[in-house]
Amino acid sequence: MTDQYDLIIIGAGPGGYTAAARAAGFGMKTALIEKGELGGACVNTGCIPAKAMLQATAVYKDLKQAARFGITVDRVGFDLKRMQEYKNASVKEFRSMIRDLIDSSKVDLIRGEAKLHRENVVEVSGGDGTRFLKGTNVILATGAQPVIPDIPGIHLPQVMTSRQLLKAGEWNFDRLVVIGGGVIGVEVATIFAALGSKVTLLERAPRLLETMDPMISDELEESLRHREIDVRCGVEVMAIKERSDGRVSVNFREHGSWLETLADRVLVAVGRRPDMSGVLADDCGVKLENGRPLVKGTYRTTQENVFAIGDTVSKMRLAHVAAAHAAYVVERLAGAGHTMQLTVVPNGMYVVLPVVPTCIYTDPEIAAVGFTEDEARIYNMKVKCGHADMSVNGKAILTRKQEGFIRLIFEAYTNTLVGAQIMCNRATDMIGEMATAIANSLTAGQLSMAMRAHPTYSEAITNAIEDALKGEVV
Ligand code: NAI
Repeated sequence: MTDQYDLIIIGAGPGGYTAAARAAGFGMKTALIEKGELGGACVNTGCIPAKAMLQATAVYKDLKQAARFGITVDRVGFDLKRMQEYKNASVKEFRSMIRDLIDSSKVDLIRGEAKLHRENVVEVSGGDGTRFLKGTNVILATGAQPVIPDIPGIHLPQVMTSRQLLKAGEWNFDRLVVIGGGVIGVEVATIFAALGSKVTLLERAPRLLETMDPMISDELEESLRHREIDVRCGVEVMAIKERSDGRVSVNFREHGSWLETLADRVLVAVGRRPDMSGVLADDCGVKLENGRPLVKGTYRTTQENVFAIGDTVSKMRLAHVAAAHAAYVVERLAGAGHTMQLTVVPNGMYVVLPVVPTCIYTDPEIAAVGFTEDEARIYNMKVKCGHADMSVNGKAILTRKQEGFIRLIFEAYTNTLVGAQIMCNRATDMIGEMATAIANSLTAGQLSMAMRAHPTYSEAITNAIEDALKGEVV
């Protein structure tokens, strides 16, 4: 027997569970199929575990520096096992929140491994055997997997992805080598350096976080070096070799020289890519391009009424992007207006601006939205840039978090905000105001209308606006 649904969603990560709850809210009979835990990589192995570990290490670091606030602490230490317990409890709480959402939405949650056939028939194999469902519409939201580069020794037991490393309950991290200076690489380096590891960060590109503003890469590199992380960009990792003492040696080439560094553990974080191999049956009409489902503007795949969202199709592999894709597809299926947009064409301009905030939880945090100055130049856009240094911000002085800056990019003739790069304490909380401003084409004048409270980190936004208005057009 085949059960009929209005919408079947494969994968219960941020894309999948958002789509399911929204669809049920529109009255669609919805099935959500998941082979693992609710919440996908974000909740179980990625964002939430990493941010929990960052929170724990931030507390540890603050306690070690308590004396500067006149606080005496006798002995500060950490217990990796108990940090894991705190992390696991946080993950569990997130999962139960999603479970409540799914249950209260009256979505059919089906446990098992799904395979999509032609005519939108979905085969689900699990503990209770195999069953078949048929969907008027189907959404593929199966996420992405870490890329494992072809480096000799990459499969040694000392070499791990962030998923395995964030689960570690025993301390084997006196020396940690991180391959990849992208988002995961810099966040994990921050966690383990704070806990006392000697971290070496090996990045192939000429700078860290290559997709971000060069000023962010430079300041981040300086900040990581300040934390005694050995940052090496423009290097090629050649081999990882096991030694008789249980450690490994990582061999790499830097400016023509062959070098070696020792490690107890090696993290590989060189990107993620979708893995659709198990999801599409042989008779399925979803075509792939470079491993990703081929989609048109509305996330429609090449099989009728099948959509692909989130990490399966997006270059920006972020939970909030997956949730935005989910909302977009479901609202379209329901014939409702869209509540969120990923891009905007600002007033009087002929460019499409991204409005997706990117947040990186280093110390200080990094957050960006819209264009960098270099990206604006690619579109021949004349801009004014405003800069505010956090070293003179009142709240930063009080909290002793004076590292970083706020940089705002305005289109020169209309003074419309087109980009923001923030690197400072709480940057990830402040970027929302900038994303709202860009999504609504707000100008420097409109952004200045409401005051920002004193003392707050946000006052630096006001300073950056003022700086841009008196700056020259570039
Ligand atoms: P990434 O794409 O951010 O960075 C990978 C880095 O590895 C790049 O800088 C690349 O140049 C470098 N690389 C590639 N091959 C290399 C090699 N053989 N040797 C040395 N370096 C090499 O990917 P990452 O950090 O693995 O993160 C995966 C995904 O997860 C990203 O798409 C990211 O958006 C997402 N994510 C987001 C987070 C956030 O929003 N805070 C946190 C963690 C992950």
